[in-house]
Amino acid sequence: MSLFRTKSLSKLLEQAADTGHGLKRTLGAPGLVALGVGAIIGAGLFVRTAAAAGEAAGPGVTASFLVAAIGCAFAGLCYAEFAAMIPIAGSAYTYSYVTMGEFVAWTIGWALVLEYALGAATVAISWSEYLNYLMGGRIPYEWCHSPFEVSAAGAHGILNLPALFILLMLTLLLIKGTQESAMVNGIIVALKVAIVIAFIAIGWQFVSPANHTPYLIPAGTPGHEGLFRHGWGGVLGGAGIVFFAFIGFDAVSTAAQEAKNPSRDMPIGILGSLAVCTVLYILFGYVLTGVAPWQEFLTAGKEASVSYAIQHHMAGYGWLATLVTVAILLGFSSVILVMLLGQSRVFFSMANDGLLPKLFSDLHPKFRTPYKCNMVLFLMVGAFAAFIPESMAGDLTSIGTLFAFVLVCIGVWMMRRSRPHQPRPFRAPLVPLVPILGIVICSGMIISLDRRTQMTALGWMLAGFVIYFGYSRSHSKLSGAPELQEVAE
Ligand code: ALA
Repeated sequence: MSLFRTKSLSKLLEQAADTGHGLKRTLGAPGLVALGVGAIIGAGLFVRTAAAAGEAAGPGVTASFLVAAIGCAFAGLCYAEFAAMIPIAGSAYTYSYVTMGEFVAWTIGWALVLEYALGAATVAISWSEYLNYLMGGRIPYEWCHSPFEVSAAGAHGILNLPALFILLMLTLLLIKGTQESAMVNGIIVALKVAIVIAFIAIGWQFVSPANHTPYLIPAGTPGHEGLFRHGWGGVLGGAGIVFFAFIGFDAVSTAAQEAKNPSRDMPIGILGSLAVCTVLYILFGYVLTGVAPWQEFLTAGKEASVSYAIQHHMAGYGWLATLVTVAILLGFSSVILVMLLGQSRVFFSMANDGLLPKLFSDLHPKFRTPYKCNMVLFLMVGAFAAFIPESMAGDLTSIGTLFAFVLVCIGVWMMRRSRPHQPRPFRAPLVPLVPILGIVICSGMIISLDRRTQMTALGWMLAGFVIYFGYSRSHSKLSGAPELQEVAE
């Protein structure tokens, strides 16, 4: 029995065509673009733009956004090809199953937990922090921190109640239905995009050209000696920091089985949301570094850097600072929503294949959503939010995402060779150049992450292997069912 047994593509496509029993196909192109934007705009834009400008890129943070977007676009083109060709829930996990075999598929499914479940937990913790900030710090320390945290005054955290609250609300919404979730997501996206545009339009009048000169941090600037801390190297360092802001466009592909016309709309959803966000991000970065000198972001504002810039440099627009905080809370909610959706669809597919217990793929008799999976996920993500330090969770999310990007790029390239004649409604251009560039850039970013993150991710993957060999391998539907496996052509 091979570790590299692959699932039959024709069986998968049959599964996709079964609309009577599976997930409901309710999402059109605008809903899919909104799903992408919902998952993309969040902490990355509102917190990391100032951090990237202050620490590495200066006003060149606009170029950092462009570099990160180009890196994501290579992976995005490969995702679009797969999602249009194999419109099944599960995204990178499903694509690996038909190209690289069961063991790689399991590995990637397990890594996606870092991206989606841990990503949702990270953002839920930030949501709780911002809620407290908006309420003037009125939530008692004990009830908005995990048991591992102690305040400067010696108070011990008990439970992060606001984080659990938002996770529960969004879980219930997801159980109610994908269409309902997409509608709420659409409203949130419209509001948060409106506030981002308002900041860009109003801030534009306060941009001082002097703040943009010089465009790059000059060599010899004290505190910016490292290769990736000034000049064009700093632009690359900044790209690594703002990469987090782009995470999420791939989540669109997890909903492929719920798209009405996946072969046309999947590429639009994935690449469209990436394009919209890139334009907004570059304009946002231009205005933020034009309104306030980048040097101020090193010391002032920190997490609340956008509110800081408004309050100190945009006289008369204090109300906009409050609106930005509301936009952040909304932004975080939709990021959590789409991450939870993505995770449940990956588990759904893994359970359908027998690699996880059946309860993960049981559908609600009326709503036709994987409700048991959503509930287990609530417990799991809630536990992550309570126990994992936030500082580590963000980078682990990035490593899981980058790993998935690399495997999707390899998969597209392999599939072009193994099944050149398979119909492809969307074709990534310049294969193998585009996948190779995607692999090189994403692997480079994995290597640049710190050692503690790499080691923790390795530990996570080893735990996954124990589950695979202890349970999944023998429960796999491919085990003893040659008709479901791909036969070499
Ligand atoms: N891109 C998402 C964010 O910035 C994860 O919050």
